[in-house]
Amino acid sequence: MTTSPLAELSTHVTDLIARIDRAATLADLHADEPFIVGKRSILSTLQKSLGALAPEERKSAGAQLQEARRGVEEAYHVRRTFLEEATRTQALEADRLDLGDVVVAKVSVPLAVGHPGIVAATQRQLEDVFVAMGFTVSDGPEVESDWYNFEALNIPPAHPARGMWDTFYVDLGEPETVVLRTHTSPTQVHLMEKAVAADSLPIHSVMPGRCYRRDTPDARHLAAFHQIEGLVVDRGISFADLAGVIETFTHSYFGPDISSRLRPAFFPFTEPSAEFEITCTICRGEGCRTCSQTGWIELGGCGMLDPAVLEAVGIDGDEWSGFAFGFGIDRCAQMRHQIADMRALIDNDVRFLRQFS
Ligand code: PHE
Repeated sequence: MTTSPLAELSTHVTDLIARIDRAATLADLHADEPFIVGKRSILSTLQKSLGALAPEERKSAGAQLQEARRGVEEAYHVRRTFLEEATRTQALEADRLDLGDVVVAKVSVPLAVGHPGIVAATQRQLEDVFVAMGFTVSDGPEVESDWYNFEALNIPPAHPARGMWDTFYVDLGEPETVVLRTHTSPTQVHLMEKAVAADSLPIHSVMPGRCYRRDTPDARHLAAFHQIEGLVVDRGISFADLAGVIETFTHSYFGPDISSRLRPAFFPFTEPSAEFEITCTICRGEGCRTCSQTGWIELGGCGMLDPAVLEAVGIDGDEWSGFAFGFGIDRCAQMRHQIADMRALIDNDVRFLRQFS
C-alpha cells in the first residue's frame, strides 16, 4: 500500500504557518508568498500529486488539501493585516514632530479684546471731569412716572412745553402716565426728594443716563441717546456759579482753546434759563458749515432752579437755591471726535469702532 501524499500534511501546514509568522516585514511576507500560498508552495506540489490517486481517494484528499490551504491562507491574511497596520503606525511615528524639546516661540498676535464704546468712554470721561470738580455721580430710572418726568419739573399736563419732548409712553397703568424718560432731569427730582427725606442738603451731583425721544434718527439725533444732568442745591448759589461750572467743565473736557457762552432760553424747570454753547470744535471758532459760520455750537441747556420745582420737592427756596444743566453725551462724543453722522454710534461697524480703541 502506497503512503498517502498527504501523510505529512499537518507538518507542512505547521511549517508554513511558522514561516508566515517569521516574516518580520510586509516585504518579507510578499517575498515568501509564492512559497506559502503560490505556485511554489508545497501545497501546490501536493495538489498536483493528487492526480495519481484513485478517483475516490482523490476526492477526499482534495477536500483535505483544500481545508489545509484555507487555514494557511487565513494565517497569511492575518499576518499581512498585522504587518500593514504595524507599517502604518511606524510611518505615523516617523512623521510625528517631537515637540518635547522645542521651545514654543511666543507669537505676538494681538488678541481681539474689546473696548468700551465711544459713548460709554465719553460718559466715564465726563464723570471724571465732574468728580474732579467736586460732584458726586448719581443714577436714576429710565422708566418714569409722568410726575417725575414732567409735573414735578413744572410741566403740567397740556403745558405747551411737553411738545419739546416727543415722548414714548409705556403701556402701564392709566394711559399716558408711565414714560421712557425724555431727559435726565427727573433724576434731579429723585435726588432732591431723597435729600429732603434724609435732611442731607446740599447737593452737588451729576446724573448720566439713557433717554428716549420719538425722534427719527438723523445725523444729529438718535431715538435712544444719553444725557448728563448736573444739579447743585446749596446756600447762596448764583448764576455766576453756574456760568463758572460750565466754563470750567468746557476747558477741562474740550481743551483750553474751547470756551463756553450762555444765551437766553426757556425751560419750564429753570428760571432764568440758558442754552450753553461752546466754541465750534471743527473750525475752532473761525466759522464753518457745521456751526453755520457762527463759530459756536449748542451743547445743552441750563438755568437756576425754578422756585416751583423747589416747592414740588419741599425745599425751602428762601434758604436754598441752585442750578441745573443738562447736555447730550452722544453729542459731546460727536463733537470731540468730529463724527459727521451720529448714527455711526449705533451701527456697530467695527471699522468705525476700531478708531476709538
Ligand atoms: N432737560 C433739558 C433737555 O433735555 C436740559 C436741561 C437740563 C435744561 C437742566 C436746563 C436744566 O433739554
